[in-house]
Amino acid sequence: MSYLAHLRVWHGDADGGELRDHVVEAAEGEVVLDLVHRLQATECPDLAVRWNCKAGKCGSCSAEINGKPKLMCMTRMSTFATDEVITVTPMRTFPVIKDLVCDVSFNYVKAREVPAFEPPADLEPGEYRMQQVDVQRSQEFRKCIECFLCQDVCHVIRDHEDNKEAFSGPRFLMRVAELEMHPLDARGETRADRPDEAREEHGLGLCNITRCCTDVCPEHIQITDNALIPLKERAADRYYDPLLRLFRR
Ligand code: F3S
Repeated sequence: MSYLAHLRVWHGDADGGELRDHVVEAAEGEVVLDLVHRLQATECPDLAVRWNCKAGKCGSCSAEINGKPKLMCMTRMSTFATDEVITVTPMRTFPVIKDLVCDVSFNYVKAREVPAFEPPADLEPGEYRMQQVDVQRSQEFRKCIECFLCQDVCHVIRDHEDNKEAFSGPRFLMRVAELEMHPLDARGETRADRPDEAREEHGLGLCNITRCCTDVCPEHIQITDNALIPLKERAADRYYDPLLRLFRR
């Protein structure tokens, strides 16, 4: 069964833009990205949209659909009433380049600020041994497809451009947590602790556990419960533990 769907799509660039209404044919089983492609193929050949795998694995087609951060390729048209107006806008937290395409380079800057895994000095590659439970813990975080929807939704930077300098966002705090929980990461032994870095350099304290990042994750990673809260607990232990404070001094 096909029908005519009503899309309201944002067109514009860094200097400004507008929402324009379009009527686009929709067929059974299609997703929002299919309709955006049909729009490109018919009325709007210059509509800019970033996409790649169309299978929810590349993290490219992130946008806001009716104001909610989502992957366009994983949002089924069947979740909307056939007469509903579906609004498609670019992610709000990042600067627009054109139409639905944003400049997400903020995230690559933050990624570079997280120091890499440091292998133990006394082990050669091939000699690393880990418990399965530790492997599984980091595997959950490794499912991240870097769609940056969690970064887009987090109010700390969504509503406060001036926090971007100090706050790395849930995706990269999760990376710090993954490394902190890695039993072979030797960084804490040689330099600053990862939880200290999370607090001082990645703005962990600005996260007030709203859980919006977890709600929008297309991989269903428990970002808040399994990464951010444990990281906060470890940071608080180090900072407030009276004995540790004494040693620090
Ligand atoms: Fe932001 Fe997630 Fe914390 S949305 S406030 S990083 S729980």
